[in-house]
Amino acid sequence: MKMEDLVSLCKRRGFLFQSSEIYGGLNGFWDYGPLGVELKKNIKEAWWKDMVSGHNEMVQGENAPTTHEMVGLDCTIIMHPQVWKCSGHHDLFHDIMVDCRESRKRYRYDQVRGRWVEAKGKRIFVATVVETEQEDEETSRRAQKFFKIRAKNIEDLKWDGGYITLPELENFEQVLAPDAKELGTLMEPREFNLMFKTFVGALSGEEGAAFLRPETAQGIFVNFKNVCDSTRVRIPFGIAQIGKSFRNEITPRNFTFRSREFEQMEIEFFCHPDDSQKWYAYWRDRRMKWYTDLGLDGERLILREHHQEELAHYSIGTADIEYAFPFLPEGEYGELEGVAHRGDFDLRSHMEGKLDPSTNPFEVEKGEDGKPKYRGSGKDLRYRDDTYKEAFLPHVIEPSAGADRATLAFLCEAYTEDEQPDEKGKMQKRIVMRFDARIAPIKAAVFPLVRKDGMPEFAKEVYGDLKQHFNVFYDEKAAVGRRYRRQDEIGTPFCITIDGQSLDDGTVTFRDRDSLEQWRVHKDNVVEELRKRLV
Ligand code: GAP
Repeated sequence: MKMEDLVSLCKRRGFLFQSSEIYGGLNGFWDYGPLGVELKKNIKEAWWKDMVSGHNEMVQGENAPTTHEMVGLDCTIIMHPQVWKCSGHHDLFHDIMVDCRESRKRYRYDQVRGRWVEAKGKRIFVATVVETEQEDEETSRRAQKFFKIRAKNIEDLKWDGGYITLPELENFEQVLAPDAKELGTLMEPREFNLMFKTFVGALSGEEGAAFLRPETAQGIFVNFKNVCDSTRVRIPFGIAQIGKSFRNEITPRNFTFRSREFEQMEIEFFCHPDDSQKWYAYWRDRRMKWYTDLGLDGERLILREHHQEELAHYSIGTADIEYAFPFLPEGEYGELEGVAHRGDFDLRSHMEGKLDPSTNPFEVEKGEDGKPKYRGSGKDLRYRDDTYKEAFLPHVIEPSAGADRATLAFLCEAYTEDEQPDEKGKMQKRIVMRFDARIAPIKAAVFPLVRKDGMPEFAKEVYGDLKQHFNVFYDEKAAVGRRYRRQDEIGTPFCITIDGQSLDDGTVTFRDRDSLEQWRVHKDNVVEELRKRLV
């Protein structure tokens, strides 16, 4: 599958649009169209049902170290600025970037790649940020332009070595920056905090400064005590949240994969420190299975344990669930979800003050005056109940998924092309989105075979019955084969057709999107038939 085919389908059929498109778009922001919003909503609902509301602690407990409970939260996007100081985001949540003095563009330091080339007695480094497949064409075009070499003399360019990234260079003097015409226009790399800043109330100075949350997780940590005090949950238990997060990514790319506004589906699972490794293993397996159960191919999905040097400042261990997205080079995978063992980092930071990542675990970071650099809430966030003899800070396992990345993976996985005969028996290319029925945006389409003989009236009755229970679609325009293909292209699992026989015996024809199998069902049983097939 080519990524551009999927992107084009998403626009053409209303899954995804570029944000503010009529004004030229805004990089890193995407709108979900009428079908996209249904697909993403179904994915979020499946997650919420499977992880929270439909989670049966007695049954799930069979594969888990012990039984456990799950509850939900919905916290604000803007929180007290102290939250981000104690979480570490204020000081540590940054990328290293370089600015170009000529083009005024900003790049992520580690994402600028390039090659050395020599011509006319001069050696330069041609840098680029285009996708890997277009690198050769881009660097060659820009080197020709720089040296004023015609296409027929392209052999005059003497390339030296393969692609390397900016951090591998000693200085930028001979670098032709990605959007520059002159050499040496890149400035010194510097840290760039990824949080979006805003101002609360009428105060526009630092006093009123606040941030849009870069993760939903912190809302859960700061409410840990509230949840314990207001519900009957007992350790081990999890708190889940779905919501928007914001990161001012320097180079948003690959469709919705790296966006600046996106949704997360996060769980913070609180357990006794002695049990934490068992729960870590449990959540890794459980979350992998969730994706495969909903249709992601086991071949394209991997679980990758992080190396020590990759671990985030808070993490004792992290495993990523990764998917072989089609925009990545062969053999490379992109992160769908991280399952992290966060120890007691967050609760301790919010209790005592920001922890020092250099001495992690776990000392509070001190300022020059020897006092804690950022004070915590000072509230006792330790857990106590009748089972455990003493109060303790629970350890946390965090399965943290992206709703937009999951949606993108399900879109990529669903896209298939095959050939089917049309009404005249001629083979036609057919695009089929093979979504699992649970997440398909539209569950069934209802068609009268022709627009006469009472068929539309009959079909509208069936549609009316179904619409009370499912998201269904009515279509009476064009030849029925064409209508089938339009539904296949958006992943509708079933089409229901009303024909001449329907008027005689009250039956309608069901057609399965994937097997193309057809069977008849009485109109009184249509709701039950569809319900049975959708699980
Ligand atoms: N609380 C932990 C945390 O936020 P993360 O690995 O930074 O961890 C978790 O993010 C998930 O959120 C990622 O696995 C990904 O699915 C999603 N995500 C992160 N940044 C994203 C971005 N810029 N665009 C889309 N999704 C993103």
